[in-house]
Amino acid sequence: MEHFKKIIDGKKYSEEFLQKLHPLSTEFFKNFNRKPCLAVILVGDNTASSIYVKNKVRTAKKNGIRSVEVILSRNVSEEDLLNEIFKLNDDQNVDGILVQLPLPIHISERKIINNISPIKDVDGFHPTNFGKLFLGDPNFIPCTPLGCFYMLKNELKVLSGKNAVIIGRSNIVGKPMASLLLSSNCSVTITHSKTENLREHCKKADILISAVGIPEMVDDTYVKQDAIIIDVGINRLQFVNSETKANETKLVGDVNFKKVVDIAKKITPVPGGVGPMTIACLMHNTIKAAYKNKKENFANFLGENF
Ligand code: GUN
Repeated sequence: MEHFKKIIDGKKYSEEFLQKLHPLSTEFFKNFNRKPCLAVILVGDNTASSIYVKNKVRTAKKNGIRSVEVILSRNVSEEDLLNEIFKLNDDQNVDGILVQLPLPIHISERKIINNISPIKDVDGFHPTNFGKLFLGDPNFIPCTPLGCFYMLKNELKVLSGKNAVIIGRSNIVGKPMASLLLSSNCSVTITHSKTENLREHCKKADILISAVGIPEMVDDTYVKQDAIIIDVGINRLQFVNSETKANETKLVGDVNFKKVVDIAKKITPVPGGVGPMTIACLMHNTIKAAYKNKKENFANFLGENF
């Protein structure tokens, strides 16, 4: 099959998703005379984090969501950061709060996340929201796994009974992804850096999700014929341009696309796969938070559980 037919086009998925979402922010404005509002806190000047935050703010603006950016020095104290969060927790005009991770090492990420009000926790990282997801009663679902799940549901229709293997056990991706797939009756294996015989696990996957952060680690020896592959990795790789001899960088995933594309049934590219859907899901969670802030029901095109 031609390669382009195998691509799961995250950009196209996100555009369709945002098109369905936009009327909900328009409707909110009509009803409450203000836009849904997302506050994004960025600590320090990590290049990747700054780009992610810019993309989030730009997408919010395009989709009828007001954003507030709080940019703090990398030396900010934990106490000062907590005080910013308390202010946003108390601000009735702020619906969602996102603290861009990672944080500098002198700040406890767990302590920060625990102090975001669970009703404004659009990342879904607060223990209440994380716990609710695992109990099968989700409120805010973390954006990257939600975006992956949305694309998988659309590609596969029926997930029930499939073998899903996840590489990476992070709270941002691996663990919540496992919970979502389990609730759709997949048999789920979470693998990680200490897993023995990693290839053998991966070779059994009907659905293979990689969130490991090692450039192009997953090659043809990891992949079963006709597997669906979701590549969550965003790794910046340095290389020497063979024509100009200049040092350049490019973005690659965890998956060696060229080596697996003939074996896989479908695959997400990097860039243009998971990334755009993550941002679209953040917009979804923000609008949901806004309706809930106004004590309104929020049932939408994703169905009641989302
Ligand atoms: N850093 C990498 N992914 C994420 C995410 O989904 N949310 C936040 N807040 N920070 C991140």
